[in-house]
Parts: sequence; C-alpha cells; structure tokens
Amino acid sequence: MKLALASDHGGYALKEAIKKHLENRDIEIIDLGTDSEDSVDYPIFGKKCAEMVASGQADRGIVFCGTGIGISIAANRYKGIRCALATNTFMAEMSRKHNNSNMLALGGRVLGLEEAKEIVDIWMDTEFEGGRHQRRIDMLD
Ligand code: RB5
Repeated sequence: MKLALASDHGGYALKEAIKKHLENRDIEIIDLGTDSEDSVDYPIFGKKCAEMVASGQADRGIVFCGTGIGISIAANRYKGIRCALATNTFMAEMSRKHNNSNMLALGGRVLGLEEAKEIVDIWMDTEFEGGRHQRRIDMLD
C-alpha cells in the first residue's frame, strides 16, 4: 500500500509521530509536508494529499491540522475523496466499514499521541463492508 501524509503546522508534530509509528508496517509512505512548525495554509496540504489519492498515486492518505477540521474540509472538495475526521477509534473504524474512507483527518491539538496511534491502526486495518454501503457511496459521486 502507498500511504500519503500531509499536514499544516498545527498537525506537523503529530504527522511526524504517526510517520514513525507506521515505520514497522510494510507500506510505502509518501510525506507531502509540511516540514516544520512554521505557519502554512492547510488548504494547500489538503489538496496535495487529496490529489495523490484521487489520482491513484497513493492508495490512501492521512492529513493533520490543529483540529483536523480545516484539512478534512479541504480534502473533501476533491472528487472521489472520502476524508473522515475521527476523534476516536469508533469513528475511524466505521468510516472504513461504512464509508470506505480513503483519507483520515486528525487534529494535532485535539488528540494525545496514544489515542492517535490507536485511531490510525484501526483505520489502517479495517476493511470496507461493501453491499448497501457501496450503493450509498455511489450516490455521492
Ligand atoms: C492553524 O492555526 C489552524 O487553524 C489549523 O491547523 C486548523 O486547525 C484549521 O482547521
């Protein structure tokens, strides 16, 4: 799997920590920035990651900003993107099972590192259930 990561300054520290957490997995990580805590604009980084996923250059993406809200809004502007903002493992799990989320948004100023790792792990490991949920997803696009 190719997984793209992107953040603004508010999500930078969490992006770095999650990148390290994912190192043990047999996946290719594409880090689209940002590369420091200097202030940048979340729409730019949400777009970069969404374009990678929408084009198929990455299978899935995880984006980070202060709350996860701005960058999830940015990502969901792009056709084919289903970016789930999750603040707990249940939301992350259900976003895979029912929404086939192809992007996850996390808030660096909202989550502790341990809960963020748990959210990422369940999101990475949960499969889409298909069936009636696919019909609903088809209605989105
Ligand atoms: C940046 O200060 C902050 O507004 C941004 O990271 C994000 O939380 C926006 O939704």
